[in-house]
Amino acid sequence: MRPKTLIPLTRVATYHRTVAASAERVWENVRDWEHLPWLHDSSFSSIECLESGEEGWRARVGLHPSSAGREILLELVIDAAASRYVSRVVEGQGARTEIWTSVEPGGDSHTKIRVEFWLPDVDPVSADALGRVYTELYSRLWDEDEGMMIRRAAELAPRPRSAGQPQRCLALGPLEELRARLPLLIELAGRRFRVVEVEGRLLAHPVRCPHRLGPLEDAAVEAGVVTCPWHGYRFDLRTGLSCDGRGLRLDRAPEVRVDERSQVSLSF
Ligand code: FES
Ligand SMILES: [Fe+2]
Repeated sequence: MRPKTLIPLTRVATYHRTVAASAERVWENVRDWEHLPWLHDSSFSSIECLESGEEGWRARVGLHPSSAGREILLELVIDAAASRYVSRVVEGQGARTEIWTSVEPGGDSHTKIRVEFWLPDVDPVSADALGRVYTELYSRLWDEDEGMMIRRAAELAPRPRSAGQPQRCLALGPLEELRARLPLLIELAGRRFRVVEVEGRLLAHPVRCPHRLGPLEDAAVEAGVVTCPWHGYRFDLRTGLSCDGRGLRLDRAPEVRVDERSQVSLSF
């Protein structure tokens, strides 16, 4: 797959996989540089994008362990006509390494990928071991990416319309019993929400991030702020607004009421 005209490198392994998502989701993921230190937080510690577009991106990427201050300059170049892309380490540890990936569409729910790992200055004695390291790393990265693509495809799929009027309120029982069940996931009006307590106040928030529909049901909440695990965008649950300057807003959530008999209910 790697053009022969390029500088000589050694291919240490080839990784094949069928991803349970459409090629559209795969290409979207390839262009999405922002998820590296969040979705792949065990491999990457930071990213600073220098340029990005339809043809790829170029970024300074922090590697774990971050305390060692290891950073590489990484570029990803897409050859859409050939349905492939290359990730190239331009500077830093592993400079000149090239990882070539071809993408073969297979329908709405599967895409074949083939990844070749090309390294400079490889001692033939250590080539197989290096190949195993890269294969294991990419197997984990693609597991994480695949989970994201499957979830996003499910969120994008049209929802069946429920017959009749959607339910607008929900009784959650006595306050003290509810507190013991927090955080609590509930469904109302065909959408899912999480009920949490922030500084003594009960709040409900949607479990879908407004950025790229990331999952908020298990997302960390600190001082009333939820952080999305896909790209790290943050939202204040008291207002629903971005609190990192990104100008987004969580979908509307039901109001939580506690009546004079300490019974809790949610309603739109
Ligand atoms: S989906 Fe991107 S930050 Fe939530
Ligand atoms: Fe990824």
